[in-house]
Amino acid sequence: MALVTTKKMFEKAFKGHYSIGAFNINNMEIIQGIVEGCKKHNSAVILQVSKSALKYAHPLYIKNMVEAAVEETGLDIALHLDHGPSFEVCKECIEYGFTSVMFDGSHLDYEENIAKTKEIVDYAHAKGIVVEAELGKLEGVEDEVKVAAGNASYTDPDQAVDFVKRTGVDSLAVAIGTSHGAYKFKGEAKLDFERLQTITDKLESAGYHNYPIVLHGASSVDQKSVATCNEFGGNIKGAKGIPVEMLRKASSMAVCKINMDTDIRLAVTAAVRKSLSEKPDAFDPRGYLGAAREDIVTLVEKKITDVLGSEDSMK
Ligand code: G3H
Ligand code: 13P
Ligand code: ZN
Repeated sequence: MALVTTKKMFEKAFKGHYSIGAFNINNMEIIQGIVEGCKKHNSAVILQVSKSALKYAHPLYIKNMVEAAVEETGLDIALHLDHGPSFEVCKECIEYGFTSVMFDGSHLDYEENIAKTKEIVDYAHAKGIVVEAELGKLEGVEDEVKVAAGNASYTDPDQAVDFVKRTGVDSLAVAIGTSHGAYKFKGEAKLDFERLQTITDKLESAGYHNYPIVLHGASSVDQKSVATCNEFGGNIKGAKGIPVEMLRKASSMAVCKINMDTDIRLAVTAAVRKSLSEKPDAFDPRGYLGAAREDIVTLVEKKITDVLGSEDSMK
């Protein structure tokens, strides 16, 4: 058993009108919770790590814990760098054994994004590793880069085709109205599905058959988790995510990878706050971290059945 790339996962997901869940990982309990949820539904999964998560946990720990998860569950698991900021960080992750890297040049000028993405694609492909890139700007905070609402911009479909052609990138993250973090919409939630369909149609016409699209900023921000955080001492106000039905619709279209971090953060925080508050005399971390791990299992199971549709994707 070894880590796999996302190539076959995406081929199957596109054809089967579902998405693979890409969950951000930072520690052992998060990894175990995610893969246990996936195991129960026979679902392939992407475990992804941001630059700050690498700094927090160390790439060696991440890599070895994820390999342990592969060995223990027998699942198809891809280990992915999320929002890679530079060639050097992508290269370092490939050297550590990651099977997929994202280069995020969405904040760069278009030509610079193409040049840098292509440099990484050439390096990664020579080693059998796949690359994700981003075109268009998502609002919100992503790995130390903060994009204000006014500076967000949706992906241009013609540029998307040109970008894929000139970089050879394996999957493309697009901006269609999602954003990172827990505060995605002030008013009504809205995604530009027409744009998503146009991007796919244009890619298809240009010869990119079943080209996989990635959706970042795709947490639903479960209001029960927010309420639990607040009931047990938290202060999270006005948090709002992407409605489950919209994510399900995106999964049935060309979106093959759905990124979720905020939902895990909220589930962990709610469980830890509740556990500590209900047992004020307890001080064994296995109590509250174990509670968090159990709630991640439940969260991931719900994502597979209600959002992703990736049940039995291991078949
Ligand atoms: O999109 C970014 C992810 O939520 C990772 O966030 O850089 O705080 O680990 P982080
Ligand atoms: P959320 O903040 O919506 O969970 O998005 C996470 C993400 O896109 C990681 O790359
Ligand atoms: Zn992201």
